Amino acid sequence: MEEKKPSTADILAKIRAQKAAAAGGSPATAPEAAAVPVAEPAPPVAAALVETAPVKPAAPAAKPGSTADILAAIRAKKGGAAAPAPATPAAAATVAASAPVAAAAAGPAKPLPSIAEMVRAAKPGAAAPVAAVKPPVVAPPMPARPLPPSAKKGAPAPARRSLAGLVTVAGVSLVSFVLGGVFASPVLIAIGALIWCVLLSPFAMAWAALSVVTGIATLGTARFMFPNVLVEPPSKFKIGPPSDYPLNAVSNKWKDQFGVWIVHTDQYEGKDLIYALSTVCTHLGCTPSWLDGEQKFKCPCHGSGFYITGVNFEGPAPRPLERVGLRVAEDGMLEVNKSMKFQEEMGQWVDATSFVDGSLA
Ligand code: FES
Repeated sequence: MEEKKPSTADILAKIRAQKAAAAGGSPATAPEAAAVPVAEPAPPVAAALVETAPVKPAAPAAKPGSTADILAAIRAKKGGAAAPAPATPAAAATVAASAPVAAAAAGPAKPLPSIAEMVRAAKPGAAAPVAAVKPPVVAPPMPARPLPPSAKKGAPAPARRSLAGLVTVAGVSLVSFVLGGVFASPVLIAIGALIWCVLLSPFAMAWAALSVVTGIATLGTARFMFPNVLVEPPSKFKIGPPSDYPLNAVSNKWKDQFGVWIVHTDQYEGKDLIYALSTVCTHLGCTPSWLDGEQKFKCPCHGSGFYITGVNFEGPAPRPLERVGLRVAEDGMLEVNKSMKFQEEMGQWVDATSFVDGSLA
């Protein structure tokens, strides 16, 4: 006789009975369960569904939580039982996952790892961090020194100047410089600089040009410190005792320095006098010359002539030469005072300060 297939209700009742038996329940329940009326036979598909009912999968391993959870887990590992419990299940899972890493990181002197390292270590299956090894720094080789243009292949080597040649060139240049300075000739100075520059080197050329410019600027500055000032001789000066001037003689001793002649004569109105005549021609201001052979002053500009007394007698000069002040000083010396002028046509030659008695000579 063919055996009857159990229905779904039977299967369920059987399962419940087995569960109750396993749980130590009352044995009376088993018959009850067994006595559950059977309805209708369940299809085989239902049994298969019951047997192969999907079992609810276990919850996946908790992923690491936030950074705070990771840090809490590491602290818990380090602190042992005293450490606070993780706040969340995820943190607890993180503790379990990161335990090897924390244990490996524990050490007396090892510093705390960075957050990035802790995150990397907290991830399941993460490998232990490997310290990056920097490659050794190798200095690049120095490039080859470029050759000068003159050192090209096949180019002849520059001829070396001899010491004697250099000395000769320097001497010629120096002489030119000195002559240019003595005669104040910029041409000679430029020639000296040119010789120095062309025959020596571009370096010397640059230095020579710089030196010349600097020298000119220095000379200009020094010249600026000494402006053109007309230094006139003093108006009063002593010319020695009267005995230095003999009768009927004209002394040129003070002509160039002070612009006066010292005349000792008795030809003016028959009086023996010593006086000082100005060397300025009364025509247009030239300087006449005393002609001892002709006993007269002759102006080279327009030919005016003056006697030894100073009175004009030829040429365009309109009036006699002028006298300047003369007196005998306290020390017996003759003293000329050019600030005093005496004109014959004005009757000033009779002034006692315009002459000295010739008998004192
Ligand atoms: Fe002496 Fe003319 S300036 S004659």
